[in-house]
Amino acid sequence: MKTAIVIAAVLAAACCGNVLKAENVTVNTPGTSLVLGADKGKKLKHLYYGTRLTDADVRGLKAAGAANVNAYPDYGVDPEREAAIAAVHADGNMTLDLVVDGVSSSKSGDASVTTVKLRDSHYPFFVNVNYRTYPGLDIIETWTDISHSENRPVTLTRFASGYLPVRYGNVWLSNLYGSWGNEARLDCQPIAHGMKVIKNRDGVRNSATAHSEVMLSLDGRPRENGGRVIGAALCYDGNYRLAVDTDAGNWHHLIAGIDEDQSEYHLKPGETFTTPVLALSYSGEGLGGVSRNFHRWGRERRMAHGDQLRDVLLNSWEGVYFDIKEPEMDQMMADIAAMGGELFVMDDGWFGVKYPRDNATQGLGDWIVDTRKLPGGIKGLTEAARRHGVKFGIWIEPEMVNTRSELFEKHPEYVIKAQHRQPTYGRGKTQMVLDMANPAVQDLVFTVVDTLLTNYPDISYIKWDANMPIRNHGSQYLSADDQSHLYIDYHRGFHKTLDRIRAKYPDVIMQACASGGGRANYGFLPWFDEFWTSDNTDALQRVYIQWGTSYFYPAIAMASHISAAPNHQTHRTMNLKYRTDVAMSGRLGMEIQPQKMTEAERSQCHKAIEDYKLIRPVVQQGDLYRLLSPYDGLGAASLMYVSPDKDRAAFFWWKTEAFRNKQYPRVPMAGLDPEKTYRVQELNRVDKVPLKFEGRSYSGRYLMENGLEMPVNLTVDNPDEWSSRVLMLTAE
Ligand code: DGJ
Repeated sequence: MKTAIVIAAVLAAACCGNVLKAENVTVNTPGTSLVLGADKGKKLKHLYYGTRLTDADVRGLKAAGAANVNAYPDYGVDPEREAAIAAVHADGNMTLDLVVDGVSSSKSGDASVTTVKLRDSHYPFFVNVNYRTYPGLDIIETWTDISHSENRPVTLTRFASGYLPVRYGNVWLSNLYGSWGNEARLDCQPIAHGMKVIKNRDGVRNSATAHSEVMLSLDGRPRENGGRVIGAALCYDGNYRLAVDTDAGNWHHLIAGIDEDQSEYHLKPGETFTTPVLALSYSGEGLGGVSRNFHRWGRERRMAHGDQLRDVLLNSWEGVYFDIKEPEMDQMMADIAAMGGELFVMDDGWFGVKYPRDNATQGLGDWIVDTRKLPGGIKGLTEAARRHGVKFGIWIEPEMVNTRSELFEKHPEYVIKAQHRQPTYGRGKTQMVLDMANPAVQDLVFTVVDTLLTNYPDISYIKWDANMPIRNHGSQYLSADDQSHLYIDYHRGFHKTLDRIRAKYPDVIMQACASGGGRANYGFLPWFDEFWTSDNTDALQRVYIQWGTSYFYPAIAMASHISAAPNHQTHRTMNLKYRTDVAMSGRLGMEIQPQKMTEAERSQCHKAIEDYKLIRPVVQQGDLYRLLSPYDGLGAASLMYVSPDKDRAAFFWWKTEAFRNKQYPRVPMAGLDPEKTYRVQELNRVDKVPLKFEGRSYSGRYLMENGLEMPVNLTVDNPDEWSSRVLMLTAE
C-alpha cells in the first residue's frame, strides 16, 4: 500500500469553500497509522498510533477506547501533566491554551507532510505540529514550528519535538547508556510509575553517555523478532531530554526534545523556532522490525550517501598515534593497498607550526601542515595515495582550540567561557570549545574545511572529531540576555557551517567522531556518512557496543576497525580471526600499524578484506536480524544481514563467554525465504578442516527453524579460548 495522508472531512470542506472544520487526521505509512482528532477550535487529540488501520477501524476508534489525550500538551490551563510546550507571554502570563486552527497537507519532493496548525485561544501564539512520511517507509517524522506576533519576545521554557501516549500495560523500555570506551550499552526494564528521564548535557558529544533513542515493547519483555514495539529517535546533535512519565492514568507519556534546562529561549515576534525531528516507528515484528524500519529510513532519507557502499580503510590513530611521519604514512598506504583496502586516513598529529601537534596539549586551531613531520605536505601524501592506488582522508577537530595555538593567541574571544570565571579546560588541559554561535567562528570552521578541500581536491574523506564538552557556560558573542541560547545557537551555527560545506563538497565522505562514539545520532547524519562507534576497539566489547548501536543505526553507519592485540583499551588479547569477524559486521576498517603485524597476519587480513567485499552489499545495505543477544548471557552472540531480495545473507556468530564444557545454544536464522535453498560458505576461514556444512545447501525454512551447529572452538594449531564464524549464504 502506498504512503498516504488522509484528512477526513478537511479536503471536502475546503474544496466546497466551506469554513475548514477538521475531524480525524490519519497519517499512514505502508504498515502503520497515526490518528489525531483535529476539531477546529478544540484541543488536538492523539487517538492512535500502531498498525495500519482500515477506514472502519478509524471510524470506530473512539468507541473502542482511543487515547483521546492532548497530542501536543501545553502548560498552563490544565497543568498537572508533563507538558510538551510551555511559554511565558510578553505580558507575563505563564499559560498556553492551544487549539486547532486548521490542517493542511503538502508535498516536499516525494515526502508527504501533514501540518496541524494550532493557535492560542487568546494570544497571537502559533504552533504548527508537523508529520512527514516517505513512500515505502514505516517512519513518521514529527516536529513543531513555534511562532508568535506578540509585541515583545515570548520566553519558551519547554519546546519538545513531540509527545506520544502509550497505553499503560506491561510496557518495557529499552535504551542505551554508557561512557567513554563503553558506549551504547543496553538497558532494559519494565516502565514503572513515576518518570524516567534520559538526557544529555554535554553540549557537543550527545551520545557519549546516553543515546536519544528508545524502544517501547508493548507486550512485556522485549523480543527481537516478535511483539509490538514502538521506536522513537530524537534526531538532534545537541542536548536532549526524553522523558517517560507514568501517572495513575491509562497512559505512559513519552515526551522528547531539546533539553530546555538552562536553555530558555526568547522568541522574537515573527521569528520561528523549529524543533528537531522526532522519528517514530511501529512494528509488530519486535525490536528487530523497528530497527529494520529505522535502518532503511536512515540509509534512504537521513544520512549522507546512505545508498553508496563504503571503502575499506586504514586509520593511522592506533598505529602511530601523534607520531605522524611521512615515511610511515607512505608505508601505511602501501600496506593497506596491499591488503586490498581502498582508503587511508591520517589521524591526529599532522598540523601545527608554532605549536606542533605532538600531543594533546597544543596545536588545535592551527590547521597548517607540520613540514617537520611531512616535508612533502598534504600534496605529497595525496600523490603517494594515488601511487599506491588508495584514496586519502584526513582528521580535523575544527570546533576546538588549544590555548597553546596561534588561533587562540589571535582570537581568545572565540572560545566558550563565562565572564568573570577562570577558563575550564578539556583534553590536554588546554583544550577549549569554539563558540559556534558566533558567525565569525562559523566562517572560520568553514574555511578550515574549504581550504583543505580546495587546496587538496584528492582528499576524499574527513574524520571530524570533537573531544570536549561545553564547560563554563558562557558565550562571548551572545548578548547578556541571550546567554541561555548558547546550547541551541551552538548547534544552529554548526548546522549552517555544515550546510555550507555540503553545498560546496557534496561528495566528500565525512565521519562524525567525538571522543569515540559521542556523535552517534541521526541529528548529525544528514551531513555525515558514518560515525566512529567507540574508541574501544576490543572485539569482544565491540560485540556489545555494536549490538546496542544497531537498535537504531545501520551497519553502514558504524565504523568498525580491526586493531592490535593486546587491545590498547582493554589490554585483552583476542585472536585475529575474532577481531576481523567482529569488524566485518559493520563498516570494515583497520586501526593498527601493519608493520607490527606478521606476514601471515597481513595475509589473513587481506583475505578478510576480500571476503568482506563479497558480503559488503549485504552488510551495508541489507536487513539486520539480531539472533542471539550478548546481553542474554548464553555464551555467544549472533546476527545476520539479508539482502532485500533475500538472495544473499551474511551470518555472524561470536563466542562471548569461554568456559570449559560450557553449553551454547544453536541459533536459528531469520529473514531468509523459507522456499529458497541457500548454499553455505564460511568466510575468513582459518580452520585446518572445513566446517561440516561447508558448501552444502539448505532450505531457508530449515535454516530458520533449526540453524547450523557452530563448533565452539577453532581447529587451528594454537587455539585460544575465543572463536567466531562468518558465513555467506547464497540462494541457488
Ligand atoms: C579521539 C578519537 O575518538 C580517536 O579516534 C582519535 O581520532 C583521537 N581523538 C585523536 O586525537
